[in-house]
Amino acid sequence: MKGIVLQRGLASNIQLVELPKPVVGPTEVMVQVKAAALNHRDEWCRKGLYPNLRDGVILGSDGAGLVEDVGAEVDPSLIGQEVLINPGKNWGANEKAQSKEFEILGMPSHGTLAEYIAVPADRIHSKPKQLSWEEAAALPLAGLTAYRALVVKGQVQAGDQVLVTGIGGGVAQFAAQFALALGAKVFVSSSSAEKLEQAIAQGASSGFMYTESNWSMQALQQTGGMDLVIDGASGNTLSNLMEVCRPGARIVFYGATRGNPGQLEARKLFWNQLQLIGTTMGNDADFLNMLQLVEKFKIKPVVDHCFPFSQAEQAFDHMKEGKQFGKIILVP
Ligand SMILES: NC(=O)c1ccc[n+]([C@@H]2O[C@H](COP(=O)([O-])OP(=O)(O)OC[C@H]3O[C@@H](n4cnc5c(N)ncnc54)[C@H](OP(=O)(O)O)[C@@H]3O)[C@@H](O)[C@H]2O)c1
Repeated sequence: MKGIVLQRGLASNIQLVELPKPVVGPTEVMVQVKAAALNHRDEWCRKGLYPNLRDGVILGSDGAGLVEDVGAEVDPSLIGQEVLINPGKNWGANEKAQSKEFEILGMPSHGTLAEYIAVPADRIHSKPKQLSWEEAAALPLAGLTAYRALVVKGQVQAGDQVLVTGIGGGVAQFAAQFALALGAKVFVSSSSAEKLEQAIAQGASSGFMYTESNWSMQALQQTGGMDLVIDGASGNTLSNLMEVCRPGARIVFYGATRGNPGQLEARKLFWNQLQLIGTTMGNDADFLNMLQLVEKFKIKPVVDHCFPFSQAEQAFDHMKEGKQFGKIILVP
């Protein structure tokens, strides 16, 4: 079968190779992948910026496809079902945080950028009927991360003013869609005026260019301040995020695309009763609740671009350049 592996000896750091089809274990199912999606994590792996990297491992955490075979201990009626895959394994018993054994498909174990993947049977879920293969593949990791950030950690309420930063990003797209579905008033930020317009067309109230130095003060004046901010960039923008908050607001961050904050105004944080909350992906209950939300509100993931496996390098470069508005899909 074809698979896209990490290969750091090459200029592109990835390679489309021929591999043996996986062997399905007793408690596993074999999924024939119809579509897979990239997450920024795949690009961090390609850049060598992810822990425990191993060359030859198939990348990719997100996938949707058909169950082709099942292990000896798995219900055979699953064969032929259309499914998507929960990429998080071994969260553990503590709802508040993942165990040390927590693992994400696509490094260090083989991932979804392949024609076939064998996964534990409890990782698969029925594909929401309204979704195409590409849309279903777009959902798992980013949808789960956005759900936990917004609902579990952010405790979003109808009527809340919510700022979702970097709206071109995969997680940000879901956070904005989920917040709108739950009755929040959504504001967005981006480096691109075109992306802001697209987000407004999708229901956002207005948008701000985070590349402009005074954007946070403008946002505060125009909106009266946020109850909740969902951010995946961190870096120096964190102090701007504190400026756009109403007293008592929550800033939930799930990533650090821009690295660590240089300076954090501690006084602003405590005097305004702000909460700075970290989050990562989500547990199995979060995944189920996220799927229910998607089904209930008929949410359609935004697919930016579909690439064939043969153009994997272009797909990864597209993510590296931050050109996307939504998810980047790879099809075997
Ligand atoms: N902890 C977790 O479980 C988890 C899960 C998923 C992702 N993440 C992390 O979260 C980050 C985003 O992931 P993703 O997969 O959604 O990535 P992505 O689809 O590649 O999106 C990246 C987006 O970041 C935005 N951005 C860049 N600099 C920014 C800044 N200074 N302020 C605000 N936004 C900025 C850009 O938005 P514009 O194009 O609109 O400017 C860009 O499109 C990555 O660092 C990733 O590793 C963590």
